[in-house]
Amino acid sequence: MTEFRPLTAQDVIPLIGLSVAKHQQEFVASNAVTLAQSLFEPGNEIYGMWVKNTPLGLIAIIDMGHPNQALEPDDDPNGLLIWRLMVSKDHQGKGHGRDAMRFAEKRCRELGHGNLLLSAIDHKDSAIAFYEQQGYRKTGRIVDGEVEMAKALNNPHGEATFSLIDD
Ligand SMILES: CC(C)(COP(=O)(O)OP(=O)(O)OC[C@H]1O[C@@H](n2cnc3c(N)ncnc32)[C@H](O)[C@@H]1OP(=O)(O)O)[C@@H](O)C(=O)NCCC(=O)NCCS
Repeated sequence: MTEFRPLTAQDVIPLIGLSVAKHQQEFVASNAVTLAQSLFEPGNEIYGMWVKNTPLGLIAIIDMGHPNQALEPDDDPNGLLIWRLMVSKDHQGKGHGRDAMRFAEKRCRELGHGNLLLSAIDHKDSAIAFYEQQGYRKTGRIVDGEVEMAKALNNPHGEATFSLIDD
């Protein structure tokens, strides 16, 4: 079972030592970049993913309802953004990514939000198919050059409050 541990000083070096496969590096920022950028992202939470003493991934989320959030007109203040997700190359395909999505949903409920949001690069090998398998659907928005996807927690099909597109 994957454990999700809030970032601590001792975890920084093990987490920045994790990497995805070479062909996946364009899909997600390195963990070092995520940790540095987190200084400037209001409402972010970073969790290391562990099995016992072995680090294997990182998930970073952003509370869109945080009072210091600078929302764009179409941004959802009732949303939890899955900002970064990576499972290290040697630990992929063992269910840790799916556990991370469940963890994000739990945090979304705890924060009192109804919607999960994320974005991914439009590439045949990116995580879009993985997110679709987890119930996320494309909203039709392109955010910072990436395909936005969303899931509404109060709807078992993940479709409710968004204008979603099919492809
Ligand atoms: C995407 C990622 C987080 C998935 O993590 P993971 O631990 O390998 O995924 P899981 O083992 O939990 O997979 C759950 C299911 O999704 C499927 N899946 C995983 N990655 C997939 C992908 N890229 N495309 C399609 N299906 C995928 C698995 O085959 C599995 O299917 P099953 O239930 O039928 O067996 C991981 O591959 C990763 O870190 N990729 C590189 C970084 C990245 O793209 N991050 C997302 C940035 S938007």
